[in-house]
Amino acid sequence: MTKLATARAHTNIALIKYWGKENVALNIPTTSSLSLTLDQFYTTTSVEFTDSSKDELILNGISTDSTRVSKFLDLFRQQEGNFSKILVRSENHVPTAAGLASSASSFSALTGAMFNLLELPNDVQEMSRMARKGSGSASRSIFGNFAVWNKGEDDQSSYAESFYDEDINLTMIVAEISSSMKKMSSTKGMQLAQTAPTYGAWVEKAAHQLEEMKAAIRAKDIEKIGLIAQDNALGMHEQNRNSIEPFDYFTVQTRRVIDFAKQCYESGLLAFVTIDAGPNVKIITDRASETELLNKFKVNFPEIPFEVAHAGEGLRYV
Ligand code: DP6
Repeated sequence: MTKLATARAHTNIALIKYWGKENVALNIPTTSSLSLTLDQFYTTTSVEFTDSSKDELILNGISTDSTRVSKFLDLFRQQEGNFSKILVRSENHVPTAAGLASSASSFSALTGAMFNLLELPNDVQEMSRMARKGSGSASRSIFGNFAVWNKGEDDQSSYAESFYDEDINLTMIVAEISSSMKKMSSTKGMQLAQTAPTYGAWVEKAAHQLEEMKAAIRAKDIEKIGLIAQDNALGMHEQNRNSIEPFDYFTVQTRRVIDFAKQCYESGLLAFVTIDAGPNVKIITDRASETELLNKFKVNFPEIPFEVAHAGEGLRYV
């Protein structure tokens, strides 16, 4: 019987962002980042050896271009010795490429599945390093709850680890403004952002924000967490607008949702935003406020679907 190895990984949302590379080939970032893995969005991936002449990818039942996946599988071949082609079947429970970081759960799940198929030791640090090379943010999806990706300086020293393993009642309400494909990949977007004259200052600030964020998480202080995350994310998007080829992931709806979240905060509710490489907004709040806040958003934005997410688990075999 052919061996089938299956793993599931959840997506993560960075509270301190990864947005720039010191080493493009290895995905060594310019900043350390910190994320929350979410329960609602995940990818389940199965891998098996195939006699086919090339690696194949079936994504949500549809045969899809496997170039990026194949390049990633070649890293395993370089490390473990050549093996036959791989058939990858992936089910994405994440709106693909709309800034909900589906590459994070995808490459993390694929890493887990390949470690299982090749019977490699169950070493989360090694898995995180490998997932990083598929997509930087995937290094963090190996872990549940909060993870910190220490930027490091080379392949060996750049990996994520679990940061804090208590549930602090943080809620993320995802406003799915658009689930269509984003116009600028994160890889390309961050490359441009790094040309902004203000980029160095954002990187420097991020290092301080990371330390403040760790303290705020340990103190379970959702207001502080939200304020720092929002400042870090809006700063990231500033770099895009300041780059030599200015671009913007925000749409009119994105801005309206951000403004409304700010209005809610001013009226005394816990409401902060973070945005990735797409138009969707993740609203940060806590469990006690989520229902009231969600209702307000639904009334104001009846056309936008909202999903409520909490801390999710790390990589696991299915
Ligand atoms: C905005 O991990 O998708 O979501 O390493 O080039 O694949 P590559 O980039 P990717 O970038 C994610 C960027 C982000 C912020 C974050 O998740 O930290």
